[in-house]
Amino acid sequence: MDEGDRVLCESPTYLAAISAFKAYGATFTEIRTDENGMLPDDLEKQLERYPDTKLIYVIPDFQNPTGRTWSLERREQLAALSARYGVAVVEDNPYGELRFEGEFLPAVKSFDTAGNVLCTGTFSKIFCPGYRIGWIAGEKAVIEKYILAKQAVDLHSNTLAQREIARYLELYDIDTHIETIRETYRKRCDLAVETMRAAFPAGVTFAKPEGGLFLWVELPEAVNAREVLEACLAQNVAFVPGGPFFPNGGRENTLRINYSNMPDDRIVEGLGRIGQVLRDFVEA
Ligand SMILES: Cc1ncc(COP(=O)(O)O)c(C=O)c1O
Repeated sequence: MDEGDRVLCESPTYLAAISAFKAYGATFTEIRTDENGMLPDDLEKQLERYPDTKLIYVIPDFQNPTGRTWSLERREQLAALSARYGVAVVEDNPYGELRFEGEFLPAVKSFDTAGNVLCTGTFSKIFCPGYRIGWIAGEKAVIEKYILAKQAVDLHSNTLAQREIARYLELYDIDTHIETIRETYRKRCDLAVETMRAAFPAGVTFAKPEGGLFLWVELPEAVNAREVLEACLAQNVAFVPGGPFFPNGGRENTLRINYSNMPDDRIVEGLGRIGQVLRDFVEA
């Protein structure tokens, strides 16, 4: 990315990716997105409008922050558009293995006939966050460039962390572990959704995800989630306001809830408190 380079992304998209691209002076065009992923018509319109687009950045599986998953058709359409317009795609996939409902869907990369798609994964959500060890799949020539660029940034990934993960993979069955956390997240998601349905006021909407860690909540237009957060913090409960996930701003009436991390009683208690605060805002 160079100063002024354009990234097309979902609206909303992952906050830390926005920060990473912004650090290099990127400009963002948010592509209209529904529950099945980016709208291909809008994507094509923006590719026509900005022929010098540098990158399309997407999270097709249990997206951060919305928890949404792209349909098979949209995945194929994205690969076809990237091939037709010769634009690179970064398919960021930290959550794909955390599916607790529905059918596994193939990566956009699997429809990539032009070699334009780079697919990334991480141990952060299936093993342990903090190690900063992940992987990347792409065309050999692109990966060779990537290695040079990565060396310029960090010389190499932490060796001790790589050895610890390698040893873990030798000693234990990571698929069994993933099975366990998937089941845990499924139950916590069910409980969170059930609690929210009972505790949140009318006019507040959310959809149940089929995997991942997040629930995306839309409040009535006039309610500002940052103000709701202030009131929730006074009750010792927190969420992430949705506004910063829109690179060009706006949509302050949204927020992200994470259900993966707390035991059942605290999920019920915490979401109950958020529900009470929301009622104060929405029914005021
Ligand atoms: C979409 C997305 N990409 C990447 C990451 C971070 O991955 P890592 O911990 O490997 O840097 C996250 C974590 O929140 C994420 O949501």
